[in-house]
Amino acid sequence: MTSAPDINLADELSLAIRIADAADAVSLPYFERQNFTLSRKADHSEVTEADRNTETVIVDLIAKHRPDHAIYGEEHGHAGNAASPWKWVIDPIDGTSNFVRGVPVWATLIALVHDVDGPVMGVISAPALPGRWWAAQGIGAFANGRPMKVSEVSNISEAQISVTFNSGWDQSGGTQALLALQQRAYRARGYGDFWQHMLVAEGAVDIAIDAIGLAPYDNAAVQAIVEVAGGRHTDRFGVRDYEQNSAISTNGRLHDEVITSLKV
Ligand code: IPD
Ligand code: CA
Ligand code: CA
Repeated sequence: MTSAPDINLADELSLAIRIADAADAVSLPYFERQNFTLSRKADHSEVTEADRNTETVIVDLIAKHRPDHAIYGEEHGHAGNAASPWKWVIDPIDGTSNFVRGVPVWATLIALVHDVDGPVMGVISAPALPGRWWAAQGIGAFANGRPMKVSEVSNISEAQISVTFNSGWDQSGGTQALLALQQRAYRARGYGDFWQHMLVAEGAVDIAIDAIGLAPYDNAAVQAIVEVAGGRHTDRFGVRDYEQNSAISTNGRLHDEVITSLKV
């Protein structure tokens, strides 16, 4: 639970859901028409005006309704009151590589993070799937309006696992361990981006392992939702810190074994 009860998380969640509606209204038409200009950032990742304009709408609404809070987004960086213990952490489009190819697995990620407690509220809106997940500590976790919780699977041999592989796993020396874990599982698939983590929160998948090289805005909303749904979300070493560059979500029961099996 948050140790700073100076805000009402139900109010913050309600605001975040309204902001997600506004974000969807910007992003979805770009996706449906596939009319955007694709460019590359310094790290060679794709970006479009759909990413930038969606973040602009989100930041404007947060600044209007929560002028005392800090804001950090992927496309526009830091804004708001840097001295606040509360920070909104935003990824306007998670899954841009899917977005630009017409794959509907992309979403807007909105989180409220406390400087001590970490992410305490999250909304993930995927209008092209469609799907929406939200959660806040002390309130509950929901998928499309229905309460959700993680699975009770407690053996890797019975687990469904989803992995987003990238070269970061090779560079870390972890590829063989990652492959071996998938081979031990009942079933291995790659659902990608935010989606695999939300499938863990819903109890449909038991383990989600992300690429190495993540940023805080990839993790914040995911961590809040997975945790409130009863799961665990840590980096690949088992540390609960949304600012680390790797992320593993599980139903909790499997978490320690997953972390141990990925040690190199
Ligand atoms: C990407 C997604 C993906 C992760 C990549 C990120 P983006 O975010 O979060 O799951 O594997 O490392 O770059 O760039 O589509 O917002
Ligand atoms: Ca992202
Ligand atoms: Ca993004």
